[in-house]
Amino acid sequence: MIERNLGELRIFETPDELAAALADAFVEDAGAAIEQHGAFFVALAGGTTPRNAYHLLAQEPRRSKVDWNHVFVYFGDERCVPPDSNESNYKMATDAFLRSVGIAPDHVHRMRGEDDPLLAARDYAELLIQSMGDLPQFDLIMLGMGPDGHTASLFPGTDPLADNDRLVRAPYVDKFSTYRITITPLVINNGRHVIIATEGLPKAPALYAVREGPYDPAVHPIQIVAPAHGRLSWFVDRAAAAELPQR
Ligand code: 6PG
Repeated sequence: MIERNLGELRIFETPDELAAALADAFVEDAGAAIEQHGAFFVALAGGTTPRNAYHLLAQEPRRSKVDWNHVFVYFGDERCVPPDSNESNYKMATDAFLRSVGIAPDHVHRMRGEDDPLLAARDYAELLIQSMGDLPQFDLIMLGMGPDGHTASLFPGTDPLADNDRLVRAPYVDKFSTYRITITPLVINNGRHVIIATEGLPKAPALYAVREGPYDPAVHPIQIVAPAHGRLSWFVDRAAAAELPQR
């Protein structure tokens, strides 16, 4: 039986409480990283779950608690769409907080979803290496989880451990008949702190299967998330936790 690092599980009564805690964790990790090594390297999650937390970061009291001049923003994954598309994770984060916290544009590094996926993945890997060295180490990696147990753009059927010597890959996702761009488990599991935020009753079966069921990342790719040296935190709301054993 693989000894699995399930990390710390934090259950919040409501999505609003989860969003506030997620925003607070961002502020806390940013302050600690900047104090420790003068910069905060963060990989943002896409989708809808983190959006409320991002909005909170753009407002007081949290906004002025972050020294945005020392924050460097990256993305865990991106859809293969232009940056102004409503499908773009970059656009979602920009609209939610990046445009309004005063972060320098050259501190925000989007994946170029408008380019050829394989070239965009190659270029982003190069960017990560230039920014953080051969094995990039983020201070915080924010992830979500789909109802099928995917995370970032590591989906069932795309062999999450494939190309695991790469930093970024461009899997073809049958479910959406499109390519995606995503960081790999190599990067995810080198993170100092990885937070998986998931909410809502539709996620309850996957959350149970991922945490309590058999280890099979081909079926539930998020099971590959096991930081080698860093912290893993699950931020879930009561609805998503509905099928978890009440320990
Ligand atoms: C994306 C995300 C993806 C997301 C999950 C959960 O590009 O959509 O990176 O991994 O985190 O699909 O999405 P929701 O938060 O919208 O449920």
